[in-house]
Amino acid sequence: RWVAVLAGGLSHERDVSLRSGRRLSAALRSVGMTVAEWDADARLLSRLTEERPDAVVIALHGGEGENGSVQAVLDMLGIPYVGTGPHASRRAWDKPTAKAELARAGLTTPDWVALPHATFRELGAQHVLDALVGKLGLPLMLKPDQGGSGLGAQVVRDAEGLPSAMVGALSYGDAVLVERFIEGTEVAITVVDGPDGPKALPAVEIEAADGVYDYTARYTAGLTNYRAPADISADAATAAGELAIAAHKLLGLRDISRTDAIIDTDGVPHFLDAKVSPGLTETSLLPMAVEAAGRSLGETYAGLVERAIQ
Ligand code: DAL
Repeated sequence: RWVAVLAGGLSHERDVSLRSGRRLSAALRSVGMTVAEWDADARLLSRLTEERPDAVVIALHGGEGENGSVQAVLDMLGIPYVGTGPHASRRAWDKPTAKAELARAGLTTPDWVALPHATFRELGAQHVLDALVGKLGLPLMLKPDQGGSGLGAQVVRDAEGLPSAMVGALSYGDAVLVERFIEGTEVAITVVDGPDGPKALPAVEIEAADGVYDYTARYTAGLTNYRAPADISADAATAAGELAIAAHKLLGLRDISRTDAIIDTDGVPHFLDAKVSPGLTETSLLPMAVEAAGRSLGETYAGLVERAIQ
């Protein structure tokens, strides 16, 4: 039996993905699996067809691998893989779609507006910005509607900061997600499927040194403090776990996912987004959650590989 770990790709998160892929491959080898590390480049389809791994684990971030395209190819070829299928991946990948799905089910997510780039040209940027502040107030959280690792994301505390934040978000995609900013504790909750259904691992709390959990804060060791389990009340921890499990189920996620949320000052968790291919680097949240649960990354993913192959 052998497994291909897919990493790299062409997205803005290529470097992060290569780091995730390296760590995951080492973890799988440490529990006795035979692993090939493949860069997801233009040769991927022919390699998959010719070499046919027994299973694939996707460690791609920021595009293919999160938006369902690689999953669709694997389904087409009949190659088992760990993780969510193409349609649900697409749903989780598009943050406004995921938020709408959860809000419809009565779960809490910050109020939001999603605006395609063209809106600004057609309606006049200043009018749009004024209307946004009128509807959602300040501060606001701006981010590309798709993507991760904090790229293009920014908190805006006064209206003067909006235009540059808008340009920043739109430089990573075709639409911007504008959310009401929730003051509170930022947490990430990993959910793993098991024989008794999905289980939430301990929430990981994020405390970025200067309060901004951006790309640098995420991937520079020592810049952010993490607490696993999070230093939150037992009630808030339970609510956060329930939110993540609800997101996992409602979005149709499979095997493993990570939900990011803010716990407000009343202990209520607000859904931000769900990842079908969470980061696995040395500073990433999922491996911290796995460790806090007393498990190893290798055993966790090897178990999911076995499930995928069955
Ligand atoms: N997008 C990065 C890899 C994460 O969410 O961990």
